[in-house]
Amino acid sequence: MAGEPDWVPPGVDAKRANVARVYDYWLGGRHNFLADQDLARAITAVEPNARAGARANRAFLGRAVRFLAAAGIGQFLDIGSGIPTQGNVHEVAQEASPGARVVYADIDPVAIAHSKAILAGNQDAAVLRADLRDPEKILGNPAVRRLIDFSQPAGLLLVMVLHFITDAEDPWRIVATLRDALAPGSYLVLAHATDESRPAVAQAAETVYNRSVSTDIHMRSRADILRFFDGFELLDPGLVYIPQWRPDSPADVPADPSKFWVLVGVARKP
Ligand SMILES: C[S@@+](CC[C@H](N)C(=O)[O-])C[C@H]1O[C@@H](n2cnc3c(N)ncnc32)[C@H](O)[C@@H]1O
Repeated sequence: MAGEPDWVPPGVDAKRANVARVYDYWLGGRHNFLADQDLARAITAVEPNARAGARANRAFLGRAVRFLAAAGIGQFLDIGSGIPTQGNVHEVAQEASPGARVVYADIDPVAIAHSKAILAGNQDAAVLRADLRDPEKILGNPAVRRLIDFSQPAGLLLVMVLHFITDAEDPWRIVATLRDALAPGSYLVLAHATDESRPAVAQAAETVYNRSVSTDIHMRSRADILRFFDGFELLDPGLVYIPQWRPDSPADVPADPSKFWVLVGVARKP
């Protein structure tokens, strides 16, 4: 078998599945390895909606960024941004609001390498390798300080990332630290896996997933996810399943929107 593709950054273990690359595989991206594809298939075997869920989440991200741009937001901090694929935040934001500035942050070296490649020459966007568990470091990063004016409203995107942080690591404190740095009129966009709708399937998928990846997933209850919005005003339609958040068309909402077991919401800091 051929060696690793030439885009693999040094130090990446291609034998161990990784959240960013499993997600990339589901979205139809090319930056994933056999181990990621095997895990994606194993999860799909217990949860056939997994791929559709990843795509529905990506569509939600696009709707939310367009919503923020329409509300006048021209700067975005996207933490846990993932491997660039279709509908990247800077593309959506800069199309809706020319000159919009975007900072991507992710812990995964593959996501960083590809983000850097597609952002080369883009003065209004930057990417940093960073750990959401150290929000102070992200806030103090020079690229963040250059592109995000914290005296003005910004969009904070925490989409499908907080469930990689354990209760012991206190993700609520992390969100509060980021919230406190934002100017009034800023927005939080959040998507978080939940086990409230179909606990058995969700638990099975979680078990398969956690057996194989480097970063475990921690699904949370609706009540625990709502706590992330402390200090924000949750906007209509509230904390809902992915397809229910301001769908482009009513036809986009399936009969059972909870089949994607991810709750999403957009909130404004008063
Ligand atoms: C499922 S992807 C979501 C990508 C994108 N936000 C989206 O929703 O389309 C989750 C991302 O979170 C990143 N991630 C996981 N733990 C993280 C941490 N502690 N700090 C920063 N990023 C993290 C992973 O590397 C991965 O790229």
